Amino acid sequence: MHADATDTGLESGRFTGAGSFNMLHHVPSSEAQDAIFRELCRVLRKGALLVAADAVYSEDLLSFHEGDTYNPIDPDGLGTRLGAAGFEQVDVDRFEFGWMCTARLHADALRRATAPGRSPGRNVAFERDA
Ligand SMILES: C[S@@+](CC[C@H](N)C(=O)[O-])C[C@H]1O[C@@H](n2cnc3c(N)ncnc32)[C@H](O)[C@@H]1O
Repeated sequence: MHADATDTGLESGRFTGAGSFNMLHHVPSSEAQDAIFRELCRVLRKGALLVAADAVYSEDLLSFHEGDTYNPIDPDGLGTRLGAAGFEQVDVDRFEFGWMCTARLHADALRRATAPGRSPGRNVAFERDA
């Protein structure tokens, strides 16, 4: 499929896992990155695993992305941001050039799909299967 990760159009609560690799720095704002985290929560089922990784800021990567979007995530704030979206058991590993993390969808989450730009008809609350 080919879709904007902030609003995939995929069925809610469908997937048991998701991965995001070297992609989030191409998302132009923190708000849009957080919308992706919320969209991941929406399409995952309870206990599902997220695995994500990306590079941290560097002057070299800034130059490499000249003329392109470059908005790297600060791994120090990632746990808070994923928690706000609905993930738990967030584990962020930092290394010299980047970070990787695993997180699970909160088991008791009652989620409202709040991705900005979502049409009101799809802004529905739902409860995950037991
Ligand atoms: C540097 S490439 C990484 C591709 C691949 N994950 C890898 O590790 O080789 C960044 C990718 O993010 C995708 N991307 C950027 N913004 C996106 C968005 N809002 N929704 C979905 N994909 C997006 C781009 O289409 C591109 O394929």
